[in-house]
Amino acid sequence: MSAPSRIAVLASGRGSNLQAILAAIAAGQLDAEVVGVLSDKPEAPALHSVPAARRWARAPRDFADRDAFDAALGDALAGFAPDWIVCAGYMRILGAAFVARFEGRLVNIHPSLLPLYKGLHTHARALAAGDAEHGASVHFVVPELDAGTVLAQARVPVLPGDTPETLARRVLTVEHPLLIASLQWLVAGRVAEQDGQLLVDAHPLFSPLRLDCAGQLQH
Ligand code: GRF
Repeated sequence: MSAPSRIAVLASGRGSNLQAILAAIAAGQLDAEVVGVLSDKPEAPALHSVPAARRWARAPRDFADRDAFDAALGDALAGFAPDWIVCAGYMRILGAAFVARFEGRLVNIHPSLLPLYKGLHTHARALAAGDAEHGASVHFVVPELDAGTVLAQARVPVLPGDTPETLARRVLTVEHPLLIASLQWLVAGRVAEQDGQLLVDAHPLFSPLRLDCAGQLQH
């Protein structure tokens, strides 16, 4: 049996996706360990989910520029020797050199049905557009914001009377199983990305995997 996959998590905030990863590992549902949690916000609650030796956090303002911060983040990340790096509520754009350094191992969870609503305020934008459905995507990270190959998506209905807050809460309930299922497939080597193409069980797939109501990914 191979060793559990080493997962590092980049987080800027509360860390509910990180908690979901830790819970799945503890429940024996994900063959992995969280080897490091890294943040651009030294006060981020997410950091407290792991022992101090597995944390790294620095404020970008303490660095000369974006490249210097990214280099320090990258060195710290490399020090944890991760197999996979998950951006889970990491609210800072990663520079091209950083992305290239960890290419193919870097995934992000984004609260929209990409390619819709890259960037911020996704829930308000889905409501303003009158969308009937909204959701979340797990995608490989490329230098362009939220533009990498989408691995898997989960959908929720938009309901009458929704506010950005109620919609965000509904999306969050599917983000957690979506992220866990995506990581299960990644650590099992079932899913990969090559030249912008999603490969599932070594075959090209032309639309993302979809989370079903049992929390499983389907073609
Ligand atoms: C999630 O909605 C994630 O999709 C977005 O930021 C939020 C982070 O939540 N990028 P948490 O910190 O994991 O609770």
